[in-house]
Amino acid sequence: MAIHFDKETKTFYLEGKNTTYAFYINSFGYAEHLYYGARVHRDYLIYTKAQGKNSCNATPPGLDKGPGFSHMNTELTFFGTSDYREATVHPRFTSGDRLTTLYYAGYDILDTKPAINGMPSLDGGKTLVLHLYDDVKNFGADLYYTVYDDADVIARRAVYINNSDDEIKLCRAYSFAMSLPGDNYDMITLHGGWASEREPERVPLHYGVSSIDSKRATSSATLNPFMAIVARDTTENYGDAYGINLVYASSYVLKAEVTTNGETLVLGGINDFDFEWNLGAGEKFETPEVIISYSKDGLGGMSRELHDALRNHIINKKYVNMPRPVLINNWEGTYFNFDTKKLCDIADAVAGTGIDTLVLDDGWFGKRDDDRSGLGDWVVNEKKLLGGLDAVIEHVHSRGMKFGLWFEPEMISEDSDIFRAHPEYAIGVPDRNRCYSRHQFMMDLTNPEVRDYIVDSVSKILDNHKIDYVKWDYNRNVTEFYSLALPPEKQSEFAHRYALGLYDICERIVNGHKNVFFEGCSGGGARFDSSMLYYFPQIWTSDNSDAEERTRIQYGTSLAYPLSAMSCHVSAVPNHQVKRTTDFATRGDIAHLGATGYELDTTVFTDSDREAVKRQIEEYKKMEQLVLTGDLWRIENPFTSNYFSFMLVSKDKSQAHLTCYRSLFHCNPTAHRVICRGLDESKQYYVPELGVILHGSTLMSVGIPIKFKDGDFRTVTLHFEEK
Ligand code: DGJ
Repeated sequence: MAIHFDKETKTFYLEGKNTTYAFYINSFGYAEHLYYGARVHRDYLIYTKAQGKNSCNATPPGLDKGPGFSHMNTELTFFGTSDYREATVHPRFTSGDRLTTLYYAGYDILDTKPAINGMPSLDGGKTLVLHLYDDVKNFGADLYYTVYDDADVIARRAVYINNSDDEIKLCRAYSFAMSLPGDNYDMITLHGGWASEREPERVPLHYGVSSIDSKRATSSATLNPFMAIVARDTTENYGDAYGINLVYASSYVLKAEVTTNGETLVLGGINDFDFEWNLGAGEKFETPEVIISYSKDGLGGMSRELHDALRNHIINKKYVNMPRPVLINNWEGTYFNFDTKKLCDIADAVAGTGIDTLVLDDGWFGKRDDDRSGLGDWVVNEKKLLGGLDAVIEHVHSRGMKFGLWFEPEMISEDSDIFRAHPEYAIGVPDRNRCYSRHQFMMDLTNPEVRDYIVDSVSKILDNHKIDYVKWDYNRNVTEFYSLALPPEKQSEFAHRYALGLYDICERIVNGHKNVFFEGCSGGGARFDSSMLYYFPQIWTSDNSDAEERTRIQYGTSLAYPLSAMSCHVSAVPNHQVKRTTDFATRGDIAHLGATGYELDTTVFTDSDREAVKRQIEEYKKMEQLVLTGDLWRIENPFTSNYFSFMLVSKDKSQAHLTCYRSLFHCNPTAHRVICRGLDESKQYYVPELGVILHGSTLMSVGIPIKFKDGDFRTVTLHFEEK
């Protein structure tokens, strides 16, 4: 990786593992984009300067000559000149005027990447800080670009600076803008809902703006903060693919605009709907980071680069490659109906099988026998848990297992002691009724007193009991965007302040308990984003634990996130969400494509069930390192075929694992052959299940016949070991 500035042409070349990002400072003093894509030489790239239609020939301010801004493709778009594309920043000054003109004002190259104040971001890499400045208004924008040599991504963000003596209102403060040549792209996004998270949708971009967003103060299951922009002919393995992954857990927007001159502008960050930030004199506003990956090897290449970036630079280094707890979670086994004996029996039933952690889910605290009460009262319910939490913990530990506990720190029930004592802790607008969602309200994380209460009450449990693992849940979205703790002029800062409050309590609770492993959750996988992965190395992917449904949910999630980030459990049949019955083996094979675990009532296990779990975990352990650190090759797509296949290959290509799944059995089925991917052509691999030794070239060209057992929902797994 390198960042190079050519003084003669004033061109910046930002070089990642295999990519070049280039822009230059033009004769009018603006930073103008030149190129982003596969690595090229440091040639004179200014010859590429955009041509094409112009819908307004206004000149740069003060000069009665020069090109219109719509031809300039500035690194940051701004409003009030002849640039009518989507603006990256939209300030309002005390005079009421809303225009700005940001000129190049210098740069810095940093070997150590500065963290963002109060927000998660990637570490490492080499960073260029490009200073842009409007000296009429003393308003600045610092654009950060970080490149890496272990992942083809560029991390970007903007910091807006008020050097004037007056307040500036930021009506829009996006993180980045990026120009791509041409008007011929498709956009892929991940939409969904509860139990149906992250379904890919591919649509052609049209002239004008295409966008996705969240207005929920969370990244949401509705539309994940991820967007891929790909050439029209890009496939899973071939063609240009740009992946845009916002490191942010609140209301966001990502846009792609095909502009009048035939270029495509991609931009976004904090949602500017219901947003206005008061930037006081001398203050800075830091925006969330975005990870942009490029691959010429299609969607698969794009995903692998994003996976590497998240694994190497976001997820806590202590855990990223660490075997994850193989857990038994009691939720689907008992829901709220458990006591000390039941939990101990659940642990006893799986002790010695390889399951190493019991996670006690919702219902252990306050008055909480259903989902109508108790949230916010983080005090052990000793009537339900005779002997208190310690009786369960000691028993679980005595069986050689670790103990995990569920919290939903951001929530408050109307029927709770904390709400009765402090109704003002709940988000709400005075004189208006609040919306209920799952019968609960939300804590006002913009209020420091509320944050202290949460941190103290959760920490008290973690400090006074031997807890090894926490599942951090979040089951509803904000409705009344208002805080009693904020003055009227700051109410439109609410959604972003909620994110800052969330990061603050995560920082204090997670970092304050370094020996506890934290898993994220949000009514399934409704807050599955890169900012949460900074705190939680894995996230519960979906409340839908049916193997068939999971092939699609895990496939969609893998476009942006690595397998090691996805918690995947084997649950009971008929499945609780879709009532489908699938084989135990199938459920295991699909749950092994992530951080695996079990979620069912183990007290009904027979000895042979226990044996089956044991064998399943032994199989998982063989592939665990590939799940954590391997490259993912998506081979068959369950959205477009009757099959789903994932191949995991170690970085040195000495080991691989293939999981193939067939959804429906058709009588007298056709032969099925899978073409392997990602292996080394010249290496020889032993495939124990087939008893053959074959070259990578053969496996990747001739392929492997897959013989499923008769019946619906079957899997076949194969291992590949270098000989
Ligand atoms: C939603 C989660 O996704 C479930 O796994 C479970 O923890 C429930 N909440 C508990 O209320």
